[in-house]
Amino acid sequence: FFCYYIYNNTRVGVMDMNTIFDKLENDYKNNSKVSDKIKYLIDKLAQNSNLEKDEFLYILDNISTDETSYLFKKAYEVKYIYYQNRVYLRALIEISSYCNMGCKYCGINFKVKGIKRYRLTIEEIVRSCEIGYGLGYRTFVMQSGEDSYYTDELLVEMLRIIKDKFKDVRITLSIGERSKESYQKLFDAGADRYLLRHETASRRLYEHIHPSFMSFDNRRECLYNLKEIGYQVGAGLMVGLPTQTNEDLVKDLQFLKKLNPEMVGIGPYLCHEDTELKGNASGTLKQTLIMVALTRLILPKALLPATTALGTLDELGRELALSAGANVMMPNISPTENRALYEIYQNKICVDDKSEFSLKNIEAKINSVDHVIDLGVGDYIDFERNE
Ligand code: 5AD
Repeated sequence: FFCYYIYNNTRVGVMDMNTIFDKLENDYKNNSKVSDKIKYLIDKLAQNSNLEKDEFLYILDNISTDETSYLFKKAYEVKYIYYQNRVYLRALIEISSYCNMGCKYCGINFKVKGIKRYRLTIEEIVRSCEIGYGLGYRTFVMQSGEDSYYTDELLVEMLRIIKDKFKDVRITLSIGERSKESYQKLFDAGADRYLLRHETASRRLYEHIHPSFMSFDNRRECLYNLKEIGYQVGAGLMVGLPTQTNEDLVKDLQFLKKLNPEMVGIGPYLCHEDTELKGNASGTLKQTLIMVALTRLILPKALLPATTALGTLDELGRELALSAGANVMMPNISPTENRALYEIYQNKICVDDKSEFSLKNIEAKINSVDHVIDLGVGDYIDFERNE
């Protein structure tokens, strides 16, 4: 098939190699034995879509910038088989910044005081969808803190109105942990997809970054419930969390392999100075991209967003992610006056953009690395909704 690589020369995927090397700080060089072993393991992973725990760990512990370009190339090739250079766009609407949860990394958790919170009414949400639909979007992602204002009844009404108005759209919810009954009602009312990052598959780390009233097991249970009901499910994680080890990241890979979600959101942890975790280092571009690429290789058909957090960490973060296996972007179409208030991390990009502008802007970024936007509904390959 068609691809762009002139590996070891100038370009990897669709990125200039020097750009990648500059960005990833070529800090050390492996001797050829280590380097060959890493490349052998990457080939094996590309072949079998899985590795043993120790093999994943070997890659994470030893990979230098040299081998990352090899990894990204493989990830891009695998993506190309199923999705070519298409990037699916999802319109993100941040419907409420109220939250009952206490995630210690998140700038809108309930303990963060002195910030202005907002929530959108159903009318405002529908209005945002109308604007998004006019721009060409066919997936709307409703995201919020865990806000009990949005009862099942209210959300069912919202879903019915939107699904009635627009026949050819998908609705993704990203509104946190709820009961299986609630997930079922929302699915029956027309929700198609659900994003609920598992955040980390390490129990120790999960408990370190969440208050004791939050449950590692319940979050995973929610993901299994969503799958069972028939949603296209998005799990996901943060890279570079305080005290996170490579072993923790291997647990993420193994959990993802087992859950087999349709989508996986991977972003760097970005330290928010108004949270309990203030003063910690943020995740790095290199490690985040490595996790994106490894995830592409274990879940070849997955929908993988080039996340806003990556774009916030580095102005070319999302473009690099596309070259490393990502194939989705989620432009923000929330009402502009609310955007800055949804500050899960600081310095979030596109807060001041107009929605039309963010679409053009994102399309230009996507085109700059030889990808093209796809405004179709962009379901997971082979997906069929069983009613
Ligand atoms: N840095 C990076 N990602 C964050 N999220 C929340 N807070 C932060 C942060 N400080 C992510 C979580 C959550 C998603 C909506 O945003 O993974 O699930």
